[in-house]
Amino acid sequence: MAVGGGIAAGNGKQYEGRVTPFVVVACLVAATGGLIFGYDIGISGGVTSMDEFLEKFFPAVYAKQKSATGHESQYCKFENHMLTLFTSSLYLAALIASFFASATTRKFGRKISMTIGGVVFLVGAILNGAAINVAMLIIGRILLGVGIGYANQSVPVYLSEMAPPKLRGALNIGFQMATTIGIFAANLVNYGTAQMKENGWRVSLALAAAPALIMTIGAIFLPDTPNSLIERGLKDQAREMLQKIRGTPNVHDEFSDLVDASAVSQQVRHPWKTILEPKYRPQLIITCLIPLFQQLTGINVIMFYAPVLFKTLGFADDASLMSAVVTGLVNVFATVVSILVVDRFGRRVLFLEGGIQMIACQIGVGVLIGSVFGVSGNGTFSKGLGNLALALICIYVAAFAWSWGPLGWLVPSEIHPMEIRSAGQSINVSVNMFFTFVIGQLFLSMLCHMKFGLFFFFGGWVLLMTVFVYFFVPETRNVPIEEMNRVWKAHWFWGKYIPDDAVGLSHKSSDHDA
Ligand code: BGC
Repeated sequence: MAVGGGIAAGNGKQYEGRVTPFVVVACLVAATGGLIFGYDIGISGGVTSMDEFLEKFFPAVYAKQKSATGHESQYCKFENHMLTLFTSSLYLAALIASFFASATTRKFGRKISMTIGGVVFLVGAILNGAAINVAMLIIGRILLGVGIGYANQSVPVYLSEMAPPKLRGALNIGFQMATTIGIFAANLVNYGTAQMKENGWRVSLALAAAPALIMTIGAIFLPDTPNSLIERGLKDQAREMLQKIRGTPNVHDEFSDLVDASAVSQQVRHPWKTILEPKYRPQLIITCLIPLFQQLTGINVIMFYAPVLFKTLGFADDASLMSAVVTGLVNVFATVVSILVVDRFGRRVLFLEGGIQMIACQIGVGVLIGSVFGVSGNGTFSKGLGNLALALICIYVAAFAWSWGPLGWLVPSEIHPMEIRSAGQSINVSVNMFFTFVIGQLFLSMLCHMKFGLFFFFGGWVLLMTVFVYFFVPETRNVPIEEMNRVWKAHWFWGKYIPDDAVGLSHKSSDHDA
C-alpha cells in the first residue's frame, strides 16, 4: 500500500525573472520577524531561573527554592502558576492578535502589519525592561505577544509573496532559521546577564528591543508586495514592483496570474465557511493537527524551560544556562540540515526519521531521570549522567529542528488551494499559539505531577504523530502548489474527499495568498 507516497511533480509553471539582490535583502529584513519570535521563546526560561528576578517578582518560588533542604521533590520546586503565566501569556495574546492582524494585512498591506508588530513589540520590551511589579511584566509580555501575532501573520505572507516560486520552500524555512537564531541569541544574552551582580534579568528583557528596532525600521523601508498592491487597487505600482523584484521588465505572465488570483480570492466571500466544505477536509484536518502535534513533541519544554529543567536535574546555575546555550546552538545548526535536504529527500523522510529519533531520546531521558530521581524526586545526577542527559536532549532538539520545527510551518502553508490558503494559514498560526500557551502554562505542573513520566507522555505523542504522518501525510516535495489537489486525490485515504473536477482544475495558484 503506497500509504503516503506522492506523485511526480507536475509541470509547474515557470515565470521569467531571476533572484535579485533587492528581493533577497527585502526577504532578509522581513525574516527578522522570526528573530523577535525566537528571542521571546529563548529569553523567558533563563530569566525565570535568575534568583534576583524570582526574589523580586515571584518571592514564593524563590523562598521555596531557598528553603529546600534537599529532601523534597525536585520535580516540584518551580511549580507556580504566576511564573508560568509570565511565560505563556504572550502566546495567548499572539493568538488573539493574529486574527486582527489578518484583517490589517489584507486591508492595509503586509508592511503596515509588520510595522505595527514591531512598534507594539518595542513598547512591550520597554515595559518589561522597566518593570517594577508583576503587572508591568505581564502587560509588557502581552504587548510582545501582540507584536508576535502581527509579525507571524504578516511576515510569512510577505516572504511567500516576494519570493520567486522556486525559492518559496527555502525562504519559508528561512523564517524558522531566524526563529532559531533568535532563541540562540536569547540563550547567549541570558548566559551573559546572569553573571551580572544585579539587573541581569532587566537587561535580558530590555534587549528584546534590539530585534524589534531592526524589524520596525526595516519594515518602514520595505516595499509592499505586488500582490498587496493589486489587492488595494494600485496596479501600476504593483507591476513596477514586480519588475523590480524579478529583475526583468517581462513580468506579464506572473502579473496577470496575480491579478486573476486576486479576483478569485475576492470572489470567495467566506473563506471560513468555504474551508469547512467536505472537499477541503484533508487540508483542514492536517492544518489543525500539524501545529497541535508540533507542540506535543514537547519542544517548548526545552526551549522555554531548559535552564529550569537543568537546574531541576541538579546542574549549577551557570551550567544550566550554558546547557541552554548548547541546545540553542544545536537547534540552529540542525535547522540548516533541513534547508539542505527538505527539497531533496522530501518532507516525509524528515518527519519519520525525526520522529523516531525524538522517541528514542525521550525514552532515554525518562529512564535516566526515573532511575536517579525515582517517584519521590529525591536525588542528584552524577557528572557523567548529567552529561548523558544533556547529550540526549541535544539529539532530541536536533531531530525536532530538522523535522517538526520547520515542517510544522512549511507543510500547512503549502497544502491549501489558493481560495482557502489564507484561512488555513490563520488556523495554523492560532492552533500553534494556543498549544504553545497550553504547554507553557502546564509544563511545570506536569513535571511536578507526572515526574519523569512526562518524558514518556511526550514520547507517546511523538509515536502517535509519526504513525499519523506515515499513513496520512502525503509527500509534497516539488509539487507545485496549484497541483496539490492531485496529491490528495492520489492518496489512499484522502482521495475520496476530492471531487474529480478539482484535479487539475484547482485555481491558478500564485504566491499570492499565503
Ligand atoms: C515552534 C516553536 C519552537 C521553535 C523551536 C518553532 O517551529 O513553533 O514553538 O519553540 O520552533 O525552534
